[in-house]
Amino acid sequence: MPPIKIIVAGAGGRGSGYAGYAKEKPEEAVIVGVAEPREHYRENLVKDHAIPRENVFTSWEQMAARPKFADAVIIATQDRMHAAPAIAFAGKGYDILLEKPMASVEADCRAIVAAVKKAGVIMAVCHVMRYTKYTRALKKVVDEGAIGDVVSIQHLEPVGHWHQAHSFVRGNWRNETESSFMLLAKSCHDLDWIRHIMGRRCERVSSFGSLTHFRKEAMRIGAADRCLDCVVEKDCPYSAVALYLGMIREDKKWWPVDVLTTDLTEEGVTKALREGPYGRCVYDCDNDVVDHQVVNFEFEGGRTGTFTMTAFTRQRDRETRLFGTRGEINGDGEKIRIYDFLTKKTREIDTNAPDSTILGGHGGGDYGLMSSFVSAGAKKDPSLILSGPDESLETHLMVFAAERARRQGGVVKVE
Ligand SMILES: NC(=O)c1ccc[n+]([C@@H]2O[C@H](COP(=O)([O-])OP(=O)(O)OC[C@H]3O[C@@H](n4cnc5c(N)ncnc54)[C@H](O)[C@@H]3O)[C@@H](O)[C@H]2O)c1
Repeated sequence: MPPIKIIVAGAGGRGSGYAGYAKEKPEEAVIVGVAEPREHYRENLVKDHAIPRENVFTSWEQMAARPKFADAVIIATQDRMHAAPAIAFAGKGYDILLEKPMASVEADCRAIVAAVKKAGVIMAVCHVMRYTKYTRALKKVVDEGAIGDVVSIQHLEPVGHWHQAHSFVRGNWRNETESSFMLLAKSCHDLDWIRHIMGRRCERVSSFGSLTHFRKEAMRIGAADRCLDCVVEKDCPYSAVALYLGMIREDKKWWPVDVLTTDLTEEGVTKALREGPYGRCVYDCDNDVVDHQVVNFEFEGGRTGTFTMTAFTRQRDRETRLFGTRGEINGDGEKIRIYDFLTKKTREIDTNAPDSTILGGHGGGDYGLMSSFVSAGAKKDPSLILSGPDESLETHLMVFAAERARRQGGVVKVE
């Protein structure tokens, strides 16, 4: 079977990351086109994949205007720029790998699914957590009945204090009008994952949460609007100097410091901290997304669940507890511990095999997703995809319902 031909709309962090699959598996996939307005990122992809000049564009609109010249498209533009390209490329007959969130409003999510179904193309939403070794192992033991009937779930997303500061206070997802609300931007993964593990539809939700800490009122006396000028910076756990210059001084030239600038020298990063958004005091930004939120769920059959997303943690994997009629599971993103009520024994599954692939990100989820998408496209078999249009739409609707519950108060039905 010849490799499937893929084009990339948006060659930033995610788009160029997924494209890396073609480097690792050239017999399965080849990158034949790119649309990206930022020259540095566009040219990097062109060079890495030897993309012919006639297939290089500065916007997805130009690429979509060309007659179809590949099998599939990776759409990895920013959150508010997913629906239009997804609908356009579906109309052209491309299979679609669509970054999450599908779209920033419900109507657009529905429109994408309608367009995909009308065109009869394959679509995978980048819910990478479904594709990790850990999740596959956990789902298997749950579905095999290792703890009997699962009655409730408790799931924690410890965002991490510096990750919150980087992405959701200073960075691309800080402001809802420019991107998405927090639950959609960050935790659509979690709500999707919870539904996947529970194996049941969610029927009702309630939610609380707010932006409690990263506000002007919390700015300390003596603090400056940029960390480079701040006299209390050394005592601040959110210092941009400590985070980004710290990485450069340790020769760690990767995410998140590579988001600030393409000049990954001490001078380049200092300039970015002086002039760009990532050098700002976390208490003096234009952020409005919440820094902590909880959601309660009622699933079909009266099963229940709780979810906590919080900024105020050490950076680490998500943690989950599952409570069943015959046992209990404790998972930390690597190890799954299964306690059996009958035998009173705990067995452990360790899914933490080292991963040296290009797409080792998200616990191997990025690689697993690409592998499933490419196989599904090559074999024209959507059943190989774990995050297809229907369930992805369902879990996005859970997210929108939970956010309505947070804003309005009360319990909201998931339609
Ligand atoms: N699945 C995951 O776990 C995960 C993780 C991080 C981010 N994301 C999502 O992936 C998406 C991309 O995130 P990112 O971190 O790669 O962002 P990014 O800003 O690095 O990449 C987006 C790219 O789109 C480009 N772009 C803008 N307008 C364009 C146009 N008209 N045509 C083509 N390209 C255009 C930008 O120049 C940029 O390079 C976001 O929606 C984000 O929420 C998903």
